[in-house]
Amino acid sequence: MSDTVDEWQVARRRKGAARKSKTHQGCSGSACSQEPLDVEKTVKRIRDSAAELRCEDFWQEWKGLLLAAGSTSSSKPPENKDCEDPTKLLEEDREHRQCQQLQCVCYGLGSFSSCAAARYQLATLLLLLDAGQIPLEDCYVYDPVFSTGERDVLGKLGLTVLTENEEGKRLATKPTLFFLMHCGKALYNNLLWRNWSTQSLPAMTIIGNSFNSMRDRAIDREFERDYSYISQAAGVCEERQLPCPPRFTDVFSDTAVITFPASSVNRLPQSTWAEPPEPKYQHCSDLEIIRRQTQS
Ligand SMILES: C[S@@+](CC[C@H](N)C(=O)[O-])C[C@H]1O[C@@H](n2cnc3c(N)ncnc32)[C@H](O)[C@@H]1O
Repeated sequence: MSDTVDEWQVARRRKGAARKSKTHQGCSGSACSQEPLDVEKTVKRIRDSAAELRCEDFWQEWKGLLLAAGSTSSSKPPENKDCEDPTKLLEEDREHRQCQQLQCVCYGLGSFSSCAAARYQLATLLLLLDAGQIPLEDCYVYDPVFSTGERDVLGKLGLTVLTENEEGKRLATKPTLFFLMHCGKALYNNLLWRNWSTQSLPAMTIIGNSFNSMRDRAIDREFERDYSYISQAAGVCEERQLPCPPRFTDVFSDTAVITFPASSVNRLPQSTWAEPPEPKYQHCSDLEIIRRQTQS
């Protein structure tokens, strides 16, 4: 790896130990330099980083694990209607395949023009889109810290930059890969809340921090109160830990591919799905995410 990637470290604390520093600094600050970004040069650096990662053994392992995860996430074929009009069946099949075409949402990448970890994560995102045959424009990217130059770079790469802070509350209306590297727990919790149904959860594949690790590091009572959706999801999701070579620790540490097999999701009591309350985080003094500006 050509740069040192020491801007941000995963906070590894004793269970419930006091927080010494915010975990979301480092890559999250906007680019330190006020000079305009050289868009072409930055695009080239990202593509070079992707080319570098593509040759790494661990990337081949990631691909295998992702394919395995993809085969367990929801893909319901159209019903067999033998006696119907074949043209109609073909049309339905085409629609079904379009529906099954994965899309991608990436939150919390950080300032990739100034932070090597974020740049390598963006390079990985490009490799993932390529491996999953997801059209670049079907990848929606958002981080409130992106500078104008960074948004231009993302646009130049062909990705779709979101303009609204959704606080992670995006509904998966079709199979969706969510890429949330080292993000605040509230972002995952909001995402789960928005998709808290037996239809939407199985449509999601998340590449991000392990829910089980989050639970293990937290105080049970507080975790269940503040991050109830992660807490419940941890019991029914499937997590496959993604390998991380030591020199990429700051880029990929504690990363898993997380899926929600329909058979496990259906094990949760029926009462859990009825009007799930929107998270409020009244007890969280350090939320680790940037919230939408409220209009007064
Ligand atoms: C700890 S940093 C991780 C940065 C980078 N992915 C890394 O691993 O170094 C968390 C990131 O989440 C972003 N973030 C905070 N609130 C967000 C929101 N509402 N939507 C999307 N991203 C958000 C922060 O700006 C920050 O870049």
